Formats: sequence, C-alpha cells, structure tokens
Amino acid sequence: MTAPPNKPAGAPPCEPYRGLPPLGGLCTFAEALRDGYSVEACVARLKRHHYALRRLHGILTARLTAEPIYELKTAFSLHAHLCAEHVAAFRTRVGEMREPPLGLDAVPDPGLEIFFDEILAAPGTAELVAGLYEKAFPALRAALEAHIAGTNILADHPTVRLCRFALLELGDIARFGDEAVARLVDAVARERMSGWLGFLDSCLESAGGLDGSGEAAKAAPARRHSATPYAYDGKPGRDERFPDPYNRGVNAEAFIYDETMPAGPKALMLFFRRIREIEIPEMMASVITETRGKPWDYYREMSRQLWDEARHSLMGEVGFASLGVDWRKAMINGTYALIMNAQLKPLERHGVLYFVEQGLMARTGKRYEWEVALGSGSRLAGLFQDYDWADEVLHARIGRDWYLPQFGSTQEALAFGDRHWNVLFTGWKAWRDQGLTRHRNWWPDLYLDACRAGGTPPDPRVLAYDVTYEHRRADLKKISVSSATE
Ligand SMILES: [Fe+2]
Ligand SMILES: [Fe+2]
Ligand SMILES: [Fe+2]
Repeated sequence: MTAPPNKPAGAPPCEPYRGLPPLGGLCTFAEALRDGYSVEACVARLKRHHYALRRLHGILTARLTAEPIYELKTAFSLHAHLCAEHVAAFRTRVGEMREPPLGLDAVPDPGLEIFFDEILAAPGTAELVAGLYEKAFPALRAALEAHIAGTNILADHPTVRLCRFALLELGDIARFGDEAVARLVDAVARERMSGWLGFLDSCLESAGGLDGSGEAAKAAPARRHSATPYAYDGKPGRDERFPDPYNRGVNAEAFIYDETMPAGPKALMLFFRRIREIEIPEMMASVITETRGKPWDYYREMSRQLWDEARHSLMGEVGFASLGVDWRKAMINGTYALIMNAQLKPLERHGVLYFVEQGLMARTGKRYEWEVALGSGSRLAGLFQDYDWADEVLHARIGRDWYLPQFGSTQEALAFGDRHWNVLFTGWKAWRDQGLTRHRNWWPDLYLDACRAGGTPPDPRVLAYDVTYEHRRADLKKISVSSATE
C-alpha cells in the first residue's frame, strides 16, 4: 500500500494530538509499521543471547581464580556479575513469550558450544582475552543490535528494552576489552593464536552466527583446546606485584581492634584489609563453578557478592593511592583461597564465608570498622567502610537465603562454617619451614611510607607493632595448638 499524497511514508490518517510524539514516544509510525520477528523467531534468538551470556558468565568466573593479573581478575569479576544479571533478564523474557522458561539450559547449537568451550579452555591469558573480548563479546553485541534492528519495536518493546540495557553494559565491557587486547595480545601471541582465532570464527559460522540468523551450512568443526575437557584450576594466580603470598606476618585485625592504638594508622590497616579481599572472589569463583543445579538466582546473587568482594579490594587499592602509599609494600596473602579451594568442598567453603560474614554483623564487626575509619581522619576510609558495611549486610542475607536452608538450624550452619574455618590456619609453620615465606613483618616499612607521604612523625608504638596470625585468627579467636602447627 502506498501512503496518501502529501503525507510522509508511514504517517497515520489520524494525526497525533497537537503534533505530540505518537506511540508513547517509543518510535515513529514508520518504525512501528515495519514487519518484525514472530514470537517464535524472537524466542529462538533470546535463547541464544541467554546461552551466550550464561557461558560468558561461566568462563569469566571459572578463569578469574588462576588468572594472575589483578586488573583482569577484578574485571572478570565485574563482567561475570553483569552477564549474570542479563542472563536473569533474558530468562524472564523467555518466560513471558508463551514459553515456560524451560529448556534454557539446553545447548542451542553444537558449534556454539564448541565456541565457548574453546574460550573456556584457552591455554593462556592472551588467548583468553582475545577469545573473550575480540570474539565472544563482539559477537554478542552484534546479535543484540541485530535483534533491535529486526524486531518490531512496538510489539516486542520488552525485548528491545532488555537488549538496550545489555548493550549499554556490553559497551563498557568492550571499552575495557579493546584495551586489554591491545595491551596483552602482542604480535608473537597473535601469530601463535591466529589459526585458533580463525577456528573460533568457523565455530560461529557453523552455528549460523551467534544468533542463528545466518546459514548454518557446515558441520561443527573438531575441537582443539577443548578436546580435553576443561578442569577448573583453583590455585589463585597472582602477578609479580604480589611477591610473598604465603606471608601471614601482620595480623590486621588485632591492630584494628586494639583500642590503645591510635586511630590514624588504622585507616592504612583497613585499606590493607580491603585490598586483601581479592581472596574472596578467588574462593567464591570455585563455589559458583563447582556447585551445579541451583536456580539461576543462586548464581546471580553469588556473582553479585563476588563482584562486591572484588570491589572492596579495589576500594583498598584506591585507599592506598589516597595515602600516597604503594600497596606492593603490603604482603597480600593468597593462602585462604588456596587452602579452601584445595581442601574444602564447595558447601564447606560457603560455610566459612557464611560464618565470617555473620560475625561481621556483630557490634564489633563492620560497624566498628566504620567507626574506626571515621575516627581515622580519612574521609575516604569512612566512605568506603560505610559501603563495605552495607554490602556485607546484603551478603549476610544472601548467605541466609542460599546457605542456611541446607542445615537444620542456624547453630548447626554456623558450627559447620566455624569448624572448617580452622583449616585455614593450618600451615603457618609448614610454609615457613618449606621456605615459602618468612612471615616477614612488613608493617613498619609500610607505616613509615605512609608517614613520609603524609608528613607525620611515626608513632613508636605503631611502628613496633608485631603480631602475626600464628596464634590468632582474624576474628581474634585463639587457634588451637594442634591446628596451628599442623
Ligand atoms: Fe567481604
Ligand atoms: Fe568487604
Ligand atoms: Fe562479603
């Protein structure tokens, strides 16, 4: 049908009132008149977007523990959280389309499965970064853009909205990803992986593209890196800025809780406590990766918590910058995640986390840290502790919702966590005897740096602080001799 004379294409016979934007301001008549995907075709695409986001969430989570580079580890934590949120949104949307959200765990195409399995099994950081940020995320962005372009904006507005929100955050991820590729994939690495990157393209081609809109002419290609199934690596990787990861020579809590110590230097110790939280994502990633068969909300909430813990670590990094102190002078431990991932089952690890976080809710927990921060003279420490506290209240709730129901009572759930926490304090002597660390007291050097940067004279008592984790846990509970010396 052609438009009547003197009217732009798609203009309605009845004009909008006083020339107001029509259709709720959503789009023009020309756009709303356009044909678009059927519900069935839309759902087929939604399932593929969902699959891609779910796989990306899984890869980012599984790989962040062993990834040594701190900036990647923390970015993976953020990107996994964002993917998990969008997975939930797309799941909900599928459920609104005359389609129970069943079958969402099915693999939409064998070529797509191989594509993501290959990135999961990427042999090194450069391959992983290129696979994620040069192949997978751009393919997902293109699929979402194509969905917006191909659907009827009015009829399918709820989907358009989800795609737009997802694209906003995928755009942020792309900005990070482009930089990461530029800085970490050098000419030698690119040469080494050029065949594999082409292979990833052929996986997508065999699936008719990520959204399945192309011709799926070819059979899925034979697996390369994923020919041997990927096995999760729970040993935390740390880059060269973490020179003494077994060091437990400075008991941060004993200092912060010592009311006779001055308030000022406690901000520095709080920032150390925050940056050290990088161990929690390294451990939580193992719980999320190795716990199967939970509702998606479990993975979504645990991933939000994982990102919060990474964010707390980043607040610590910023705190050091605010004091003009190089955080490499603080020996950031990696043994809590190391031991928990190696020696405890996923539920036991979650139990330790639950026990610790319920303890933070006490008067002496996060509120005390916040008050200490406010009294320290560092506004930033006060601000960061305020949000750290709020986040930890959320985490305590997440623990109550997902960990607690697996026990008969709160006492039983707490005792289970407490018991397993003791495992973490084994090894202090063994690591020293094996030459892995001397548990050197690095505090005086760090404190002197902070004094120099702040132009304040050192306090002799603070400078002399020398309490380790040999006999006292982070909650200041005494460690039994047997467990401390095992
Ligand atoms: Fe935390
Ligand atoms: Fe925290
Ligand atoms: Fe937490």
